[in-house]
Amino acid sequence: MFDSLELQLHPKYNLIYGNNASGKTSALEAISYLGRGRSFRDAPLKNIVRDGCDNFLLFGQTTNNIKQDKLGISNGSDGLVLSLNGEHNGGLESLAGALPVQVIDPNIHNLVAGSPENRRRYLDWVVFHVEPSYLKVWRKYKRSLKQRNLLLKNHNNKELRSWNKGFIVLGEEISRLRKSVFEVLEGSVSQISSALLNKGISFQYEQGWPINQDLEESLIKSESRDIHLKSTQVGPHRADISITYDSGSAKKQVSRGQQKLLACAMVLGSVEIVQEHIDNPILLLLDDPSAELDKNSLNKLMNEVVAMGSQVVATSIENHNDFFPGDYFVFHVEQGIIKSI
Ligand SMILES: Nc1ncnc2c1ncn2[C@@H]1O[C@H](COP(=O)(O)OP(=O)(O)O)[C@@H](O)[C@H]1O
Ligand SMILES: [Mg+2]
Repeated sequence: MFDSLELQLHPKYNLIYGNNASGKTSALEAISYLGRGRSFRDAPLKNIVRDGCDNFLLFGQTTNNIKQDKLGISNGSDGLVLSLNGEHNGGLESLAGALPVQVIDPNIHNLVAGSPENRRRYLDWVVFHVEPSYLKVWRKYKRSLKQRNLLLKNHNNKELRSWNKGFIVLGEEISRLRKSVFEVLEGSVSQISSALLNKGISFQYEQGWPINQDLEESLIKSESRDIHLKSTQVGPHRADISITYDSGSAKKQVSRGQQKLLACAMVLGSVEIVQEHIDNPILLLLDDPSAELDKNSLNKLMNEVVAMGSQVVATSIENHNDFFPGDYFVFHVEQGIIKSI
């Protein structure tokens, strides 16, 4: 929505406040787009570009103890253009490495209550940062899966078995890397969730095919179903994380506020683990963190956020003078204009 916007952020804590529809979420969207190359709201491109304009353009500069990075991204009718320190060929992963961003927004409960894709994407963000080889394997697997599905669509069923070989090697490697990262992540998420909620959470990785079979066996067993449905029904692209809270399914038996706290524990756990593996500080964006939370829960959440040590930009409808401990920057946004307070 902004015509133009410039923010000089505090290295630790920042609060953007303003009325409904003043542009708070749009400001966070702009910051996160620089590190992710996509909308955290999954908004279509035409909604991200300002009405009446063809493209948007974003610049950012990050500084840590070792170096500075200059990031740029533009998108719209001219297509996606990226730059990191003047180089245009690094791909989105170069921006994601220079500006790692995590977001907690009012839709965060979807990480618990939404489709498995939300949880795969979440886990993959961690594995991508922790295991440098992951992105390459993941891309190869995606290509192999696409090709296998194409064979199924074109009724090339005789070629399936020979195609399986490469597919299995990649699929098992994806699964191995995810599982090793998940083991570490699980500990961190459990700890934070018990600080946020009183009862225990159990968190399990489901690999995307039956636990007592290897992927080869499972592909063969699923072959007639795959042929019938013209797509591959087993493999790490069907993985999920099952979340149990207080001995029930967190998806079905838990209130929206509790789902939000569980999801926040997942996000903060991922921030903790990823930060141990990368030099660049993670930027944590909190869009209206008070939504769905009572005062006590919000306090607990903010305590855990502060414990992360990340740089934070939060939004709120009101200007609270005790939102963060110590010094922080406050910005007021009104009808698409941001002023530093
Ligand atoms: N592509 C766009 N171009 C211009 N204005 C937009 C666009 N998309 C949304 N808006 C406007 O931005 C405002 C919403 O901003 P948002 O950042 O969601 O506000 P807040 O988070 O402060 O409630 C709405 O008034 C909406 O009309
Ligand atoms: Mg908003």
